[in-house]
Amino acid sequence: MKKILTKTMTDPSQRRVLVFGAGGYIGPVVTEHLLELGYKVRALDLFLYPTQSVLEDLSGNPGFDLVPGDHCDRPMVEKALKGVTDVVVLSGLVGDPITKKYPDASKKINDEGMRALIGLFKDRGLDRVIFVSTCSNYGLIKDDELAAEDFELTPLSLYAKAKVAMERELLGLKGKVDFHPTVLRFATAFGLAPRMRFDLTISQFARDMRLGRDMQVYDAETWRPYCHVRDFGDVIAQVLAAPVEAVAFEVFNAGGDVNNFTKQMIVDTILEFLPDAKVAYQEQGPDPRNYRVDFSKIRERLKFEPRYTVRDGIEELVRALDNNMFADVDERPNFYGNYEIDYPPSAPQ
Ligand SMILES: NC(=O)c1ccc[n+]([C@@H]2O[C@H](COP(=O)([O-])OP(=O)(O)OC[C@H]3O[C@@H](n4cnc5c(N)ncnc54)[C@H](O)[C@@H]3O)[C@@H](O)[C@H]2O)c1
Repeated sequence: MKKILTKTMTDPSQRRVLVFGAGGYIGPVVTEHLLELGYKVRALDLFLYPTQSVLEDLSGNPGFDLVPGDHCDRPMVEKALKGVTDVVVLSGLVGDPITKKYPDASKKINDEGMRALIGLFKDRGLDRVIFVSTCSNYGLIKDDELAAEDFELTPLSLYAKAKVAMERELLGLKGKVDFHPTVLRFATAFGLAPRMRFDLTISQFARDMRLGRDMQVYDAETWRPYCHVRDFGDVIAQVLAAPVEAVAFEVFNAGGDVNNFTKQMIVDTILEFLPDAKVAYQEQGPDPRNYRVDFSKIRERLKFEPRYTVRDGIEELVRALDNNMFADVDERPNFYGNYEIDYPPSAPQ
């Protein structure tokens, strides 16, 4: 094993961050933010969805380069890791519905492929390895409970089960590796980004209510935490810059207490902007998740507080819809949501 790094290079221009899954919803926002802070960024993505265009604006930036490819492709990943100081892992088959629809791909990408990828990080002189996990790991908890990082994990979906397994894999490497891993359990994302995902609650509700679509809200009283994509950019940057002792082998819920919302609270906030929108309610929907999350650890240890509230995100999205920013939303469902994949890719005709 190479010498354990004890000192982080604090000058971002001396660091090159490899962002796995840079071409999805959250990835481009994180990538752009790190470039703005002076980091060099290498983006790696398989483009499971037709989202190649989302990184185009960054292609002229001298600190940026793109490696198209699969995180399961060992020789390609080994090449991409050359000259890299830090790693952010966002790649994966993301969401309960898509992992349920494609269980084999989920196993290959989120379990076997991710485990092998984690195995490639050691002995390369890497400093930070940030693994992005999910607050979905808490599953279904009682209404009067708040999940802090040590709360029991009861993942309900293939998606969350794989995240829990990979967290354990990474945290089990203490004393065995030369890099410093951090697990960030992200709240559910909202906010404008080059690739919007209208399969996520806040964006879906705002779009459907703005476009006057029939909207069924299931289990309106269920809680979830939410976080703006730009705040996720800040969180990642803060973990990269934090003293090693504050983040190595630590798990953080990433979000803020003010953004724990029920679906009813989301609908009510959207109605402030769209008072005439129609909403129907149903009980016993297909997604039983209900969790309120405690974000005090990230607030106290990393001084992280989200800059954006759910209301800010809704306002921004309603304005964008007013300006017809997503006129192609029905023509390109798979650009705007995780619905269909071709994995492993079928041979070209
Ligand atoms: N969006 C959310 O609400 C949310 C909430 C909690 C956690 N997260 C986590 O944040 C991360 C990013 O989420 P997102 O919403 O941007 O998802 P996304 O689906 O938009 O992006 C994931 C990206 O990973 C890429 N990818 C998938 N498999 C790959 C592979 N084998 N090799 C290389 N690239 C691959 C996809 O092509 C896609 O561009 C994920 O790890 C997700 O679990 C997201």
